[in-house]
Amino acid sequence: MSPAERIDVLRREIRSHDHRYFVLADPVISDPEYDMLVKELQDLESTHPDLITPDSPTQRVGGSPSSSFPVVRHPVPMLSIGNTYNDEEIRDFDRRIRDLLGPEREYAYAVELKIDGVAVSLRYENGALALGATRGDGEQGDDITANLRTIRSIPLRIAEEEPLLNNIEVRGEVYLPHEGFEALNASRAEREEPLFANPRNATAGSLKLRDPRGVAERPLQVFLYTLRFEDEAGALAARSDLDSHFQRLHWLAGKGFPTNREARRFAAIDEVIGFCHDWEERRSTLSYDIDGMVIKVDSIGLHGELGATMKSPRWAIASKFAAQRARTRLTDIRLQVGRTGVVTPVAELEPVFLAGSTISRATLHNEEEIQRKDLRVGDTVWIEKGGDVIPKVVSADLDEREEGSTPFEMPTACPVCETKLVRVGEEVAWRCGNAACPAQTQARVTHFTGRNAMDIEGFGPAVTEQILGNGLIGDVGDIYSLTREQLWTLERMGERSADNLLGGIEASKERPLDRLLFSLGIPHVGERAARQIAAHFHSIDTIGAATEGELVAVPEIGPKIAESIVSFFQNERNLKIIEKLKDAGLRMELEAPADGADSGTEYGAESGGETRALTDKIVVITGTLPNYSREEMAGRIEAAGGRVTSSVSKKTDYLVAGENAGSKLKKAQSLGVEILNEEETEALISGERSP
Ligand code: IVH
Repeated sequence: MSPAERIDVLRREIRSHDHRYFVLADPVISDPEYDMLVKELQDLESTHPDLITPDSPTQRVGGSPSSSFPVVRHPVPMLSIGNTYNDEEIRDFDRRIRDLLGPEREYAYAVELKIDGVAVSLRYENGALALGATRGDGEQGDDITANLRTIRSIPLRIAEEEPLLNNIEVRGEVYLPHEGFEALNASRAEREEPLFANPRNATAGSLKLRDPRGVAERPLQVFLYTLRFEDEAGALAARSDLDSHFQRLHWLAGKGFPTNREARRFAAIDEVIGFCHDWEERRSTLSYDIDGMVIKVDSIGLHGELGATMKSPRWAIASKFAAQRARTRLTDIRLQVGRTGVVTPVAELEPVFLAGSTISRATLHNEEEIQRKDLRVGDTVWIEKGGDVIPKVVSADLDEREEGSTPFEMPTACPVCETKLVRVGEEVAWRCGNAACPAQTQARVTHFTGRNAMDIEGFGPAVTEQILGNGLIGDVGDIYSLTREQLWTLERMGERSADNLLGGIEASKERPLDRLLFSLGIPHVGERAARQIAAHFHSIDTIGAATEGELVAVPEIGPKIAESIVSFFQNERNLKIIEKLKDAGLRMELEAPADGADSGTEYGAESGGETRALTDKIVVITGTLPNYSREEMAGRIEAAGGRVTSSVSKKTDYLVAGENAGSKLKKAQSLGVEILNEEETEALISGERSP
């Protein structure tokens, strides 16, 4: 037998033992025997490195740590599903299906456990695992192939079939069983690392580790439940032999994929509901968390007919379980200061185990909420974990109330900087109005440097506290002027970690505009809103100049976000921060600045080869122009890259004024905005006159 042939035999054998061990939990050889097979394969591969393939069982933990994950677009979006919370809503779902299909059609449901983990997609090309990705926002996720390869139950290669299988995509849920979760937290506690709140968070955290070797140490598991076939051109292929979801689950299991064995098929909705109730009762017997059941129309053909809304398919629904409750003691109510100064009361609880995790804290939202529920320090309280991860305090058990307990009173000063707390307008929240409050600054820096924001490696909570405590930075704008010498003065900060941190800071300068926008921590501006706004306005200056009206014209942006953005860019403090970030060379535009532009403050006049003399200039038009209507002139200005807005402000670059110009002209004059007539405007657009 040639080395190549022996390698092939060994790989097949090891794969089959892996499947028996990790998927079926039914090994047929002893561990030492298995190790010998692996050892032989490793030896052969090291003498014949040209024969190593990525799907070899030796390659599960290959590769080196990656600094960030490449983004991949899902060929078919990973939708989420609608939720139901009671039987009536499940019946409504069934009625909708019947109405859509017509009374004559027959259909059945496949009902599965809703695994409380992290959704992933696996792509197999020519039978080999080629790509593993997170769901991300549903449209695009992170390429975490190297991390997913470490999950031993995921086949790196699937058995070929005749006729040859084209590419397939398999989706499912990665999760951490209770036992693995407890062990992971125990070892983190030993090393004084922060604990994970629940198995789902631990799973998400593990999948995002930069070093696959770390992931390999976490006992992650997976259940696969969705299968999509492609034709040769990569388009969705129908498989008439596998038109049932239930059959597909069996097909997956037959190919060696871990599938959940509790799925059942029912024709009647009453049976579906009964099955859901059964599992709600029995959920605690499982060795992993579920947060409900998923009800799917079984026929794949009908999926196509029923279609999907923007967010979720019409053929599936989740039946969510009621929240799980526990009783414990409220030991204290502490105030936490957020990055915008909002002060949130937090319940400190005697640690209690609830639905897969130990809880020692819960949010109390605001003063009103505490008073409405009359929660008092020392009370025995009911806590609940609802659909979301964050537990809440539901009520106090008045029978257990201690004598002499006193109602909660909201402190009048910030617990950190002692500034008097204020209430803004109609808001229920109290705020610390001191923008320089250390707690706020810390929260802003933590947000700015966080993984979903500028993602600065090494800027953890301890380092942030040290840097702020030593006055090395005053706001996030100062992060980019930190020096090695400054960092060296910090306790426990060696040369190497200082350089790593500076490397992380430097690398973060490349983050795209939408990330930067999100990182600024503008109230109400989440990642999605930031993406929409960046895509629409293309540069930080145009965003800063946008009016509320212009902002609400952007898809998904409502008045609350618009108002928040406008007021953010009116604040001098914020503008100073943005100036510092510009000076540091961060990306202030959607795309990389044209070659040769060495800082983000210079705007290239070139775009797509044509001259766009007014790129990013904010222009207002007023009065009657001699040759053009205002609409026509606006069109010409926009074609030259400018933005036409309706009111004059400090940010306006030019006022194009015709006859009978009124208040706008006066305002422009008083603000020192440059005023142009039609002819001068034309000269600017054609490039005869420079801006
Ligand atoms: S089917 C388009 N089946 O729940 C339908 N999802 O809220 C795709 N999940 O993103 C989902 N167990 O992360 C499906 N048996 C199961 C599931 C399941 C858990 C998760 C999944 C999905 C989310 C939907």
